[in-house]
Amino acid sequence: MNKKYDVVVIGAGPAGYVAAIRCSQLGLSVACVDEWHNHQGESSLGGTCLNVGCIPSKALLESSHLFSVSQNEFSDHGITVGKAKIDVSVMMARKDKVVGDLTNGIKALLKANKVDFIHGHARLSQGKKVKVHERDGKKIVERLEAENIILAAGSSSVHLDQAPLDQKYIVDSTGALEFDAVPKRLGIIGAGAIGLELGSVWSRLGSEVVLIEAMDEFLTIADQQIARAAFRSYKNQGLDIRINARLVSAMVKGKEVQVTYEDTRGAQKVVFDKLIVAVGRKPNSDTMFGDEMELAIDERSFVHVNKHCETSVPGIYAIGDIVRGPMLAHKGSEEGMMVAERIAGQSSSINYDHIPSVIYTQPEISWVGKNEQACEAEGIPVNIGVFPMAASGRARAMGLSEGLVKIIAHKETDRVLGVHIFSVQASELIAQAVTAMELEASAEDIAMTIFAHPTLAESIHEAALAVDKRAIHIKN
Ligand code: FAD
Ligand code: NAI
Repeated sequence: MNKKYDVVVIGAGPAGYVAAIRCSQLGLSVACVDEWHNHQGESSLGGTCLNVGCIPSKALLESSHLFSVSQNEFSDHGITVGKAKIDVSVMMARKDKVVGDLTNGIKALLKANKVDFIHGHARLSQGKKVKVHERDGKKIVERLEAENIILAAGSSSVHLDQAPLDQKYIVDSTGALEFDAVPKRLGIIGAGAIGLELGSVWSRLGSEVVLIEAMDEFLTIADQQIARAAFRSYKNQGLDIRINARLVSAMVKGKEVQVTYEDTRGAQKVVFDKLIVAVGRKPNSDTMFGDEMELAIDERSFVHVNKHCETSVPGIYAIGDIVRGPMLAHKGSEEGMMVAERIAGQSSSINYDHIPSVIYTQPEISWVGKNEQACEAEGIPVNIGVFPMAASGRARAMGLSEGLVKIIAHKETDRVLGVHIFSVQASELIAQAVTAMELEASAEDIAMTIFAHPTLAESIHEAALAVDKRAIHIKN
């Protein structure tokens, strides 16, 4: 006998659990199936984000940041602390506790919202039927059926044949969150979000970090003025970023990893104690469908959806990393809410143009909307206002005045098209830019808004003034 629900959600990451909770809030009966398990073999909700992504990486970024501040910044304030030591096992235990508390919190939230949680591997068949298998994939523990299915199975690290993982010396991002000591020489393939964040963690703790990046420009997804400023800053911090570098091979020999890559000067060899492969993620669309299931999957294995996350089969939706768009937790969560509300008969939608991105280095990079090179490529006429953090009183008082805020506005309408920040707390600052853009603000609207002094946020005000060449604290 199949258990019947209004909605079955497959996956309890930030896309799936949010969808399940919202469905329940709207009066729908919901089951949520998730196969994630922790080292103890127990279910652990929250998907990649909570278990091996956003949260543990930020816990380690915080620990390593404090370590670095104590060594590099305290003395500027007249504070003497002596040489700091890091106990990696304590740092990891703290990270695991943060993760454990939050994943248990999701379990409690599902319970409080009367979502039936089922631990196991789900396979979807024709007729919106879901078989839930034990973790080993054989025994069926539950059979479900629903009017609506929400696929939220997430993504996994891309692996490279040239750098086969052994999860000891050559690891993916998950392995890099579990090192038991600070590697002396750390190599990272890929200078993207994961490479930069995890590279920062281990570099601050003392690793010599080399990032090997295939593209001939650094951080092509960011505004290139911001990317250039960040590149200089990371280099000063000791991150050795080698662009235009194509990996040829990575092999474990004894207790080291021997890497060969090619750049404009020819073949290069470098030896590391650990190597992280961080070259992107791919959707988990390969093991969740029964053979007879006919659902459109695109050439990059993403489940094909329209702007409302409807798949090619009516009543089946897909959200989060398993579908097109940036692989970001908040993007998946918003899609989860939208789909739940549409199932309940509402007409919700998402503005995909206003999804913020953050890279949690120090300073942080954040942005929303179009960057300068995109405007140029699309032939959009723009006015640009830039305000350097060096002119911010608050940033100066904090001793953290590296970076800039850049606002791009349409030349004729003055509407804000993009905001790009490289600054301390850029992750927090970007929220007001998202709000302004969502409310269709012009640069003039931001310029006419009163910001408290002294705050980092004043830099957004000044950048908006600079769009019209009337910033006060810089020469226009
Ligand atoms: P996931 O979180 O991957 O969850 C999918 C869930 O579905 C998993 O629990 C999986 O076990 C389960 N599942 C899959 N198939 C099945 C099946 N057949 N049956 C049952 N269960 C199944 N994003 C940010 O926005 N900010 C960050 O700071 C950030 N940092 C990151 C750091 C790292 C190191 C990594 C790896 C990622 C980071 N991300 C970050 C990306 C973020 O983690 C993802 O975008 C987000 O987790 C996607 O959510 P999701 O719900 O779509 O999928
Ligand atoms: P990414 O797409 O951000 O970066 C991968 C990098 O690897 C790219 O610069 C790419 O050019 C490079 N690359 C690809 N193949 C290569 C090769 N063979 N040799 C050398 N370089 C190569 O992917 P990443 O860092 O793995 O992160 C995956 C996703 O997780 C991100 O796209 C992002 O969506 C999410 N994430 C988000 C974070 C955040 O929001 N702060 C933090 C970490 C991850």
